[in-house]
Amino acid sequence: MTALLDVSNLSVRFPVMEQGIFRRQVSEMTAVNKVSFSLPQGGNLGIVGESGSGKTTLVRAILRALDPSEGAAIFQSQHGAVDLCQLNQDQLKPLRKEMQMIFQDPFASLNPRMKVGEIVAEPLVIHEPESAESHRERVIDMLERVGLDRDAVSRFPHAFSGGQRQRIGIARALILNPALVVCDEAVSALDVSVQAQVLNLLKDLQQDMNLTYLFVAHDLNVVRYFCDETLVMYQGSIVESGPVDKLFEHPVHDYTKLLLSAIPSIDPDQTLTPLDRSTLGLD
Ligand SMILES: Nc1ncnc2c1ncn2[C@@H]1O[C@H](COP(=O)(O)OP(=O)(O)O)[C@@H](O)[C@H]1O
Ligand SMILES: [Mg+2]
Repeated sequence: MTALLDVSNLSVRFPVMEQGIFRRQVSEMTAVNKVSFSLPQGGNLGIVGESGSGKTTLVRAILRALDPSEGAAIFQSQHGAVDLCQLNQDQLKPLRKEMQMIFQDPFASLNPRMKVGEIVAEPLVIHEPESAESHRERVIDMLERVGLDRDAVSRFPHAFSGGQRQRIGIARALILNPALVVCDEAVSALDVSVQAQVLNLLKDLQQDMNLTYLFVAHDLNVVRYFCDETLVMYQGSIVESGPVDKLFEHPVHDYTKLLLSAIPSIDPDQTLTPLDRSTLGLD
């Protein structure tokens, strides 16, 4: 099976600035350290790790919401293979349709002053203005696919519950028929019962729309339920990877064991006691 996304040796370094008036750059911190993985077409790959381990930075660098310091991310676009790391923003624009993101916080990511119909239609307006007459129909179809009523189009996001708002965010992300969908803590803000409904919806949509997921979560139970394979990130590096069942039953790395032992109490803002990098084989 061909990889939809092939990431190799991807690193992201941020400048560390001096405190005070002049704020010279004094050093760099490595948020993502030589990460490599392959995501097959139709796959569902988890990225787990505690808060601050570099998960969001990694996926933002792949989608070029920020610039990686080095490495490659080969994406099989409709027009052939491209290295996302080598493209400028103009060259990336037509590819945006094929790669979409679902965010953690449905409250923050939906414009409260726009009606749901406008929110979901916005990617169509930007990327497919030529087909304006079909937008309304496509928006209604997408809303129904995510389990919302067609009346939602004329209402504002505040009229909806957390789970329903996340469905609006999913509709917006999928309206352009993307190939790759990056979910960054997509269900982390939801109650457990609502989480299961949204995860089941994402699974159904994966079948119906032929999606490939890169699924970031700090919650290992969610990843175990949802993903086929997972990467475990610690301080910017991948310390372990493999099929979820194998990883959960026979974790090899101390950090994975530590993450597993923290279930179910681990919360996104809790930082685990640092382990010695050398015992993890990172140095
Ligand atoms: N724009 C930025 N500038 C400087 N440091 C950043 C920036 N974004 C993230 N970081 C740092 O990179 C590290 C990884 O952060 P992040 O990718 O958000 O982790 P996660 O998503 O796993 O919680 C953290 O130490 C964070 O403080
Ligand atoms: Mg994050």
